[in-house]
Amino acid sequence: MKKSDIRDDKDIKILVHTFYGKVQDDERLGYIFNDVAGVDWDHHLPRMVDFWSNLIFQTGRYHGKPFRQHLPLPIRKEDFHRWYNLFVETVDCCFEGDRADYAKEMAGKIAASFSLRMEMEGNC
Ligand code: HEM
Repeated sequence: MKKSDIRDDKDIKILVHTFYGKVQDDERLGYIFNDVAGVDWDHHLPRMVDFWSNLIFQTGRYHGKPFRQHLPLPIRKEDFHRWYNLFVETVDCCFEGDRADYAKEMAGKIAASFSLRMEMEGNC
C-alpha cells in the first residue's frame, strides 16, 4: 500500500518522535545524547518538531542557530552517517512523497555541512 506524504504537524511529530526513539536505542548516538549531552527530551523534542515544521512548512517557528550546540560534542563523521541513515530509515518507513524526499534531502545536506564544519573546527 502506498504511504502518504508528510501532511501536517501531526506527521512531523510522528517523524521526530520515532526518529529520536531510534537515536536513543542506538548505542553510540544514545550515548552522545544522553550520557555526554544529558539532553532533556521534554525540551528537545518540541524544539525538533518546530525545526522540521519550519523547514518543511515554513512555519517560522524555529529561529535558533543549531550548529553551535553541536560543536562541543564528540560527534565523528561516522556518527553523522549513522544519524542520517536512521533519519532516512524513519522517513521511509512512515512516509512517501515530495515532502518526505525534501526532508531526507535537507537532513543529508545539513548533516554533511555540520560534519564538515566540525572537521574544520578541529573536533573530529
Ligand atoms: C550525530 C549527529 C548529531 C548529534 C549527536 C546531535 C546532538 C544534538 C544535541 C545533544 C543537541 C542539544 C539538545 C539539547 O540539549 O537540548 C542538539 C540540538 C539540535 N540539533 Fe543535533 N545532533 C546531531 C545532528 C543533527 C543534524 C544533522 C541536525 C539537522 C538536520 C540537527 C539539528 C539540531 C537542532 C535543530 C537542535 C536544536 C537546537 C536548539 O535547541 O535550538 N542535529 N543536537
